[in-house]
Amino acid sequence: MDDHIAEAIGRPDLVRLDDGLVCLRFETMKVVSALAAVEHLLGTGRVRPGDTLLDSSSGIYAYALALACHRYGMRCHIVGSTTVDHTLRTQLAVLGAHLEQMEPSASLKLDQSRRVARVREILRDNPGYHWMRQYHDDIHYLGYRAIAERVAGEVDGPLTVVGGVGSGASTGALATYLRERSPDVALAGVQPFGSVTFRSEAVSDPDIIIAGIGSSIPFGNVDHTLYDTIHWVGFTAALAGSVDLLRRHAVFAGLSTGAAYLAARWERRHDDARTVLFIAADTGHRYVDSVFARHRDAPPADSLSPRQVSTLDDLALPWSRMRWARSPVDRIVSGTTGWAGT
Ligand SMILES: Cc1ncc(COP(=O)(O)O)c(C=O)c1O
Repeated sequence: MDDHIAEAIGRPDLVRLDDGLVCLRFETMKVVSALAAVEHLLGTGRVRPGDTLLDSSSGIYAYALALACHRYGMRCHIVGSTTVDHTLRTQLAVLGAHLEQMEPSASLKLDQSRRVARVREILRDNPGYHWMRQYHDDIHYLGYRAIAERVAGEVDGPLTVVGGVGSGASTGALATYLRERSPDVALAGVQPFGSVTFRSEAVSDPDIIIAGIGSSIPFGNVDHTLYDTIHWVGFTAALAGSVDLLRRHAVFAGLSTGAAYLAARWERRHDDARTVLFIAADTGHRYVDSVFARHRDAPPADSLSPRQVSTLDDLALPWSRMRWARSPVDRIVSGTTGWAGT
């Protein structure tokens, strides 16, 4: 029996959807990461019960940190972007988390830099607050160890992990911990176009950015040398993935999951010796109007395949794939590695 609801919410489901295709399905992914991070901070004496934990978030980390604070008797202060919706705002208020929501900005980059500037102001006025730095502090990897152990115990044979990359903690941690047992575990990261993380900023997606993945600023928790392959998925392709995942497998999940599912199907089809596990980070509820209500506009997932590229200059909508070959980002940008083979 769990001692707090956060423990139950943080525990993912592992579902075999098809031969060699497994879904690691979270209700809200970052709960497990925030719980372990806060536990670690308390255990090492960096914070004490009752202290205030502060961070900026565009959504699911705010909820995760609020639950972790509730669990461990901490105060929670979030600088949220405009993507924090009414449901989350209301829950945060009742949970006792303090949310400051920024005004809409002209761009994601402006929104991110304004939130960081506001965090710095809050820290100046409240030097006792602890800044969680979910995008940079690798204590956010810790919570995924137990999940990697569960995956390793339940999935046999060679494994490929596919997941959206935001802070990089979930994909980075799962690959790191799984490779401690099996170094050949492959990792495919999923990105929206326009994200600087794997340098697709030259190609913008005229539709929308996929919530939670990609960035307009570099993040310390992204370790580029962990990724074998990157898929860049535009909004329309991610929409097709989300709709197909619900229709074919009855999994109701968000847009980053739709993109990861599409990439995972492709990876599985092109190497059927491997089991492909993709991460479903959140449920579909907050995407009902923007995604699922548009199911008739979604192209059939089977009609899509990625453009195989060997340099970043060739990236193009709606979907591109490149072998990243566990390279540091600078080596890819200078074009000394990366190739289109599988
Ligand atoms: C819906 C969704 N998918 C994927 C991710 C990426 O997770 P990570 O930050 O661990 O890279 C996030 C992160 O915010 C998210 O909100």
